[in-house]
Amino acid sequence: MAVKITVQELHAGYGAVQVLHGISIEVRDGETLALLGTNGNGKSTLMKCLIGDVRPNLGQITLEIDGVRLDLAQLSTNQIVDFGISIVPEGRRLFPQLTVEENLQLGAYRKAARAKISENLDYCYDAFSILKEKRHQPAGSMSGGQQQMLAIARALMSSPRILLVDEPSVGLAPIMVSQAIAKIGELKERFGLTVVMAEQNFQEAMRIADRGYVLVHGEIALAAETAAELKNSDLIQQLYLGT
Ligand SMILES: Nc1ncnc2c1ncn2[C@@H]1O[C@H](COP(=O)(O)OP(=O)(O)OP(=O)(O)O)[C@@H](O)[C@H]1O
Ligand SMILES: [Mg+2]
Repeated sequence: MAVKITVQELHAGYGAVQVLHGISIEVRDGETLALLGTNGNGKSTLMKCLIGDVRPNLGQITLEIDGVRLDLAQLSTNQIVDFGISIVPEGRRLFPQLTVEENLQLGAYRKAARAKISENLDYCYDAFSILKEKRHQPAGSMSGGQQQMLAIARALMSSPRILLVDEPSVGLAPIMVSQAIAKIGELKERFGLTVVMAEQNFQEAMRIADRGYVLVHGEIALAAETAAELKNSDLIQQLYLGT
C-alpha cells in the first residue's frame, strides 16, 4: 500500500504569466519533502498543480496509489481529494465567522469523508486539544498559531494519505512557527502521512524534512537527497544563510 507522485517537465502559470518552467520532482511514500525557495519562485504554484487548482500547460503529474496509476492533471480537485491528497493552503483560508467545529466539518465536504466525520473530528480533537476546547468559538477569535493548527486539522478531515502544507510559518511568531512545524512532524508519524511542505523558513523546515528541492525562478535549482546535502549546499548558504 504505497503512494507516489511523479511530476515530469511541468510547465504552468496564470494565463500569459508562465511560472513553472519544466519542473520534475518525485514525492515518495512516507517522506517529508520540503519545497524550498524564496518569495515568488513558484512553490505555491507547484502545490496548486498537485491539488488541481492550477492546470499544467505542458508536462505530466502522475499519482500512484496502491498500485493504481492516475493522470492527476486530468482529475478535478474533488477527485484528487477523494484519492487522498489534501492541502493546507497558504494563508490558511479559514472562515473566521464560523466556529472551529464548522470549519473542521467543511474539511469533510466530500461524500467519502462525510461518512467518517465524527471519527475524524475525534482524531482532530485528540491531536489538537486547543481545538476541542475552542470548538464552539469563531475561528477568527483564535491566535494565528491556533488558526494554523485549525487549518492543518481541517485538511486532515478528508483522511488524506498525502498532506500538502503551504508555508505554515507565514505570519506566525517564531515560537508558534516551531510548534506548527513540530505538530506537522507529529501528525505525519501518527497518521502515517506523506508530507510535502513549501516553506521559506529553511531552518524550521529542516527540523522535519527528509530531503528537498529548491525552486528558483520556476525551475528546480537543487534536488537534494538528504537534509545534510541541502544544508551544505552553496545555494542554500546563499539564499538563506547569508554567506
Ligand atoms: N493568481 C496569480 N495570477 C498571476 N500571477 C500569479 C498568481 N499567483 C502567483 N502569481 C505569480 O507567480 C509567481 C510565483 O508565485 P508563487 O505564489 O507560486 O510563489 P511562491 O514560491 O509560493 O512564493 P511565496 O514564498 O511568496 O509564497 C510570482 O511571480 C507571482 O506573482
Ligand atoms: Mg507561496
